Amino acid sequence: MQTNFLVIGSGISGLNFALHAAKKGKVTLVTKKKIIDSNTNYAQGGIAAVLDKTDNAEAHIKDTLETGGFHNNKRAVRFMVENSADAIYRLIDLGVEFAKEKGNLKLTQEGGHNKRRIAYVGDYTGKEIERILVKRIKEHLNIEILEDTFALKLITKRKNCYGAQVIKDDKIENIFADQTIIATGGAGELYKNTTNPPIATGDGLAMAIEEGCKVKDLEFIQFHPTALAKKITPRFLISETVRGEGARLINSKGERFMKDRHPLKDLASRDIVAREIYKELKDGPVYIDSTNKKTPFLKKRFPQIHEKLKDYGYNMAKDLIPVTPAAHYLCGGITTDLHGKTRLKNLFAFGEVTCTGVHGANRLASNSLLEALVFSNQIAKQLKHQKTPKGLRPTKSRIAKSNSPLTKKAHNLKKEIQELMWQYAGIVRNRKLIKKEALPKIREILQELESIKSTNQVIAETKNMAMVAHLILKAAQKRRKSLGCHFVE
Ligand code: FAD
Ligand code: SIN
Repeated sequence: MQTNFLVIGSGISGLNFALHAAKKGKVTLVTKKKIIDSNTNYAQGGIAAVLDKTDNAEAHIKDTLETGGFHNNKRAVRFMVENSADAIYRLIDLGVEFAKEKGNLKLTQEGGHNKRRIAYVGDYTGKEIERILVKRIKEHLNIEILEDTFALKLITKRKNCYGAQVIKDDKIENIFADQTIIATGGAGELYKNTTNPPIATGDGLAMAIEEGCKVKDLEFIQFHPTALAKKITPRFLISETVRGEGARLINSKGERFMKDRHPLKDLASRDIVAREIYKELKDGPVYIDSTNKKTPFLKKRFPQIHEKLKDYGYNMAKDLIPVTPAAHYLCGGITTDLHGKTRLKNLFAFGEVTCTGVHGANRLASNSLLEALVFSNQIAKQLKHQKTPKGLRPTKSRIAKSNSPLTKKAHNLKKEIQELMWQYAGIVRNRKLIKKEALPKIREILQELESIKSTNQVIAETKNMAMVAHLILKAAQKRRKSLGCHFVE
């Protein structure tokens, strides 16, 4: 198959890019499950942007840098923030109906922000953005959507990318493209406890690393402080905006423990709140207390959270809700410039899979959807066509059956990786133990996986997870001092 633009992934960044690219040529968008399956579809809180007269770019930049431990790329941060309002207006033009009051956008607040600057749609901002983008994509004759199509490997020659191999209907196919775009999102599935849906296995990152792309900042895994403390997969998130609208964190003694731990109290940045909860959990449960709000407000403002908690037996207006941190976001990724360029010619990346440098050592809340949008808006200005070299026919691996012992083995190794990462590359890390115990273990897992020669989605995902886990552990072992969400014991 031949196309102009091969987009891998159907979250905000892949869909937004596809809409731009379709004006210039044929787009083939592949996604490994159904089109809406993405982290984007789970986003609750909203999108940060400079939208209010009393706010300004310098203030948003300052909060982004402070939260990121000043490890950020300042140029990239400025670029994102200065384009933030236009990104929101683009979504509005496409049909996203953000919350409004007297004709103006209503804004909410999250951790690390010194200002209310987050545009939102109830507590299901991501679902609404995904719905609208998918609707627009489906209206486009120039965009072909291939669901249940797993990108396995990039097709490259002499540092130039010519497309990707995909698995579809248990067969491997080559899709050749003028330009290939990795928009595969993060890697939360590497952890036993995560807010991410199971699609987040770090595939795009692994594919890019295999072809020699540069990666950066992988040790900075963000843990969201307030997932519901119930063993469900993925962990159900209780948005930071619940605290933004007045809820408080309470420890087992009934104390508002964040009051004297940071000037922003319950709305300190995520790394700080997650660590404080982690400490408190040693003495007993930690809760979100939203009982200072009445049911009609909670039902209207947080319809999804209110309903889901009711299913689990909690009434937000009456009960304390037990919470615990869970892996949430990959701050590092494939190194890209302001136009999404990677080290390989004709290979671009954007969204959570990238490291544009905007997040530094810890992402500021609601800057992720913003980054994905702003950067995928820019890349479309760079599009060019190229010819695939004659005779470029990458070899195809054998497909393993989904019920084969090899698939089962990969599945079990996936579970081992998740346990290992939670134990050694979690909220608090011990560099000696990473070196002595975690690195040898992940190398063993990598070796076991290497011996599996045939492939399928489970096997490939597990190999990708092992490769990314190895690099995260190596990066965490190397960074001696605590910074942002990398906290060393
Ligand atoms: P995704 O939306 O994750 O999309 C990746 C796509 O790639 C998926 O369609 C996936 O199926 C596909 N894919 C992956 N691998 C392959 C493969 N090998 N072959 C084919 N397809 C593949 N951020 C905010 O800014 N504000 C919020 O309020 C917010 N809330 C969040 C709440 C939750 C519970 C979670 C989990 C995240 C939240 N985030 C939020 C983070 C944000 O949602 C993500 O960072 C962002 O949506 C990532 O977008 P993306 O396009 O990069 O990737
Ligand atoms: C949330 O709603 O708490 C998640 C926001 C984010 O990940 O930026």
